[in-house]
Amino acid sequence: MKKYVKNAVKELQKSDKDKIEVPLKSKNDYKRCFCRLLYNKFILTIQKKVVPSHLKIFFLRTAGMNVGHDVCVPHDIYFDPYFPELIYLKKGSLIGGESTVKSHQIKGNTLIIGKCVLEERTLMAGLSTILPGGKVSRNSMLSINSFLDTTIPEGELWVGKPAKLLKKLTDEEIDKFFKPSDGNYKEYYKAFKKNVKEFLKDPDKMFFKMQYNGKRLNAGDDWWRARNVLRIFYNGILVEITRRLHHSFFKTFLLRMVGVKIGKKCRIGKGVVFDHLYGDNVTLEDNIRVDDHCYFDGHSYTISQTIFGKTLVKKGTHLKHDTFLAAGTLVGENVVTEPYTMLQKEIPANEVWGGIPGKFIKKND
Ligand SMILES: CC(C)(COP(=O)(O)OP(=O)(O)OC[C@H]1O[C@@H](n2cnc3c(N)ncnc32)[C@H](O)[C@@H]1OP(=O)(O)O)[C@@H](O)C(=O)NCCC(=O)NCCS
Repeated sequence: MKKYVKNAVKELQKSDKDKIEVPLKSKNDYKRCFCRLLYNKFILTIQKKVVPSHLKIFFLRTAGMNVGHDVCVPHDIYFDPYFPELIYLKKGSLIGGESTVKSHQIKGNTLIIGKCVLEERTLMAGLSTILPGGKVSRNSMLSINSFLDTTIPEGELWVGKPAKLLKKLTDEEIDKFFKPSDGNYKEYYKAFKKNVKEFLKDPDKMFFKMQYNGKRLNAGDDWWRARNVLRIFYNGILVEITRRLHHSFFKTFLLRMVGVKIGKKCRIGKGVVFDHLYGDNVTLEDNIRVDDHCYFDGHSYTISQTIFGKTLVKKGTHLKHDTFLAAGTLVGENVVTEPYTMLQKEIPANEVWGGIPGKFIKKND
């Protein structure tokens, strides 16, 4: 990395600016030395398959990122290996799976570098992207599947591509999403175990939510308490194998080994992800087509909530590519989704849905 780029980074770090533009004299001037870049790329690639843990936080710090205590970083998060020192994940913050944090962009001959900041105990939900200059302030959230390149002020929920204000959170909502634990951990963990057991046993209960009152700074850090840890790893490994396979008898067989209930004549495309914790809570009835890169979510932590859900897709449904089903979704018979749809709660039979969040488009005759 050339000196003038290094100086620009230092200046940005010291200032209260969110991002700056640096005209490049030569197109490779921003690249750091080969060994350092190789190390960053290696660590930031390996971490994609490592579960949230203190060890993972340690390795992220060795790449130069600013990562606080009890930050929850799950699988498949892309962190920018070129300017990791501009990424600030403050203590207790939580990132959703399959997200991206990018602290630089190149536009023509201009380098744009910016801080990417998650303030203490804030949420960046899954499948989202933070671009240079993106910041989530205290008591705020970036919702699922969003792009952020600016500051979310305190106490707000933003969503969309690019992200825009969805709502200012009331005091009640701030309490619901961010309330810290009161220290009564023992009681909480006992009740949690009992409630999860009841939820899993009861076939009519599709959705489970519990206010977090555990030891950590966010509910996500307690992912390993969701169920037997060995079962989580068993599910996770098989899910990671199956997502790489095209539709085949073998893939269906492996998914059944996870516990996914799959009916007759179902077709499951490549890149389809079943929840790593609770993939076995998904039921697909007969004649269902799931196109590539669909996602069946089974859990959805916020800073102070644990959410688990079962998913039921009724017969004849066609989920087009990149459809996302939130935890606890029930899809009726003969439903069709447009590509990149996000479904949650209940979708009535014989309808076409599309958009994020999913909306009714027309009847499916
Ligand atoms: C931003 C966000 C947290 C807002 O959550 P929310 O206000 O609960 O909004 P939702 O639209 O999901 O739900 C509205 C209500 O319906 C409930 N609900 C949602 N899905 C439901 C279901 N399948 N069945 C029953 N109720 C449901 C919610 O619990 C909520 O009820 P409440 O107001 O009593 O708490 C959420 O949209 C989000 O992005 N979640 C993703 C979290 C994530 O990615 N975590 C990362 C690690 S897993």
